Amino acid sequence: MGCQLSALTAVGVVGSGTMGRGIAESVLRAGVRVVLRDSSSNALSQARKHIESSMNRSVDRGHLSAQEVSVLLALLDPVETPASLSDCQLVIEAVPEILEIKLAVLASIEDHVSHSAVIASNTSSIPITRLARALRNPSRFVGLHFFNPVARMPLVEVVRTVHSNDSSVAATRHFVESLLGKSPIVIGDRPGFLVNALLIPLLLAAARMLDSGYADAESIDASMRLGCGHPMGPLELSDFIGLDVVCAAADAMYAESRDPALVVPSNLRRLVEAGHLGAKSGHGFLSPKRTNGAEE
Ligand SMILES: NC(=O)c1ccc[n+]([C@@H]2O[C@H](COP(=O)([O-])OP(=O)(O)OC[C@H]3O[C@@H](n4cnc5c(N)ncnc54)[C@H](O)[C@@H]3O)[C@@H](O)[C@H]2O)c1
Repeated sequence: MGCQLSALTAVGVVGSGTMGRGIAESVLRAGVRVVLRDSSSNALSQARKHIESSMNRSVDRGHLSAQEVSVLLALLDPVETPASLSDCQLVIEAVPEILEIKLAVLASIEDHVSHSAVIASNTSSIPITRLARALRNPSRFVGLHFFNPVARMPLVEVVRTVHSNDSSVAATRHFVESLLGKSPIVIGDRPGFLVNALLIPLLLAAARMLDSGYADAESIDASMRLGCGHPMGPLELSDFIGLDVVCAAADAMYAESRDPALVVPSNLRRLVEAGHLGAKSGHGFLSPKRTNGAEE
């Protein structure tokens, strides 16, 4: 991407789950071809269906015509093998948050792209520098941390490591801003980058207050919603994100920083151990009904 994104003709996205399909759709909507790779053909067909129905909703709302949708969908190239990534100037990895899987996927991306291609990871919590170990040339590697749901969340964290060269950072920043119309924040490779470094301690503090009886769930959530203008209170937001995801992010950040604010309180840990993961399992801090978080 040497590194003018006006020359961008194809973006690779590896991993077509929640995030990968959202990133792919955002790139398609900008009129750029997407090579969407997944090891599962079922995941690829689900992703295509998901993107198609999301675009069809835009037709219903009058934002796209049916003809535009068929033109954009024709730019989507779902593939199961990495060789098809060879003509992508940027490849974004969005496979599960497991170090070994990511290292193998990143090494395979590098084996198939050109020397000038930029490679990015959408990891939420693995240090970008640790992932860079998979690459022979880590200078063209950055974090590109999108937020869920990708279509609605305007922020993307661009994470640079000590290896990242200026042109890769500038090119990915330009990609986010000019092509996707989102707002980039360039940040160093610190635990939690910027958003989670601020957010996770707040979510844990809310869980801890609930655990100690400092306040009830309604009051904790109302304090941030009505007192600070947050769209959701921290307990509701934890349920929405997934309590397992909150725990995993906190554990990863604590492992690096040993910051007491990042210790997972026992009520949150117990809910995760019980499989009460929030909205996705139907049980969490507030669901199915408002409780004290310890019992349903
Ligand atoms: N879900 C979120 O809210 C969120 C937000 C920001 C960042 N992230 C990060 O994005 C990444 C992906 O998360 P997700 O929620 O989309 O996961 P997901 O489980 O929904 O999707 C992962 C996809 O990767 C595919 N995959 C697994 N191994 C593969 C391989 N070796 N090669 C190619 N494809 C493979 C799976 O088939 C699946 O379709 C993670 O690093 C996660 O931390 C997630």
